[in-house]
Amino acid sequence: MAQTVNGRFTVALIVLSDRAADGTRPDACLPVMREYLGAGYEIVREVILPDDASRLQAELIDLADTSSAALVLTSGGTGLSPRDRTPQATLAVIDYEVPGIGEAIRAASLAHVRTAMLSRAVAGVRYRTLIVNLPGNPKAVAESIAVIAPVLPHALELLAQ
Ligand code: MTE
Repeated sequence: MAQTVNGRFTVALIVLSDRAADGTRPDACLPVMREYLGAGYEIVREVILPDDASRLQAELIDLADTSSAALVLTSGGTGLSPRDRTPQATLAVIDYEVPGIGEAIRAASLAHVRTAMLSRAVAGVRYRTLIVNLPGNPKAVAESIAVIAPVLPHALELLAQ
């Protein structure tokens, strides 16, 4: 369990989707998360969960409190439907919010799609783990990671101090 492995930051990827979790629809977000993060990260866990706040909270707490991942990216469950619980679950477990990350993703995403304003994605830190919510479609994942990727190493270095 470490923040870095072979000099690469450890990252956990979590997809929130009822249909991907029960097999009704194949997940298309994990491959995009892997591709857009690139080779600089060591993926230590990949999980597909239903839109269930308590399951997500338990996963986030485990990853952060065991220092298993320097970074956790979630995808999905950030919209307005009653089953979209990802931001609430994230806010319930973080020590402090990093609002600029969500603001930057939404601002940049508005240039691609007006519905970007409907994502309630949040980011924050629990212990020494940075948790970032992303929307739940592959295009949004790619567009969002492109925004944060240049800043992630600096953020993770600050948390590793
Ligand atoms: N952001 C980007 N960059 N690209 C997108 O296609 N889709 C939006 C928004 N953010 C989108 C985006 C849509 S349509 C919704 S409903 C919200 O994210 C929430 O998506 P989620 O519920 O899958 O998390």
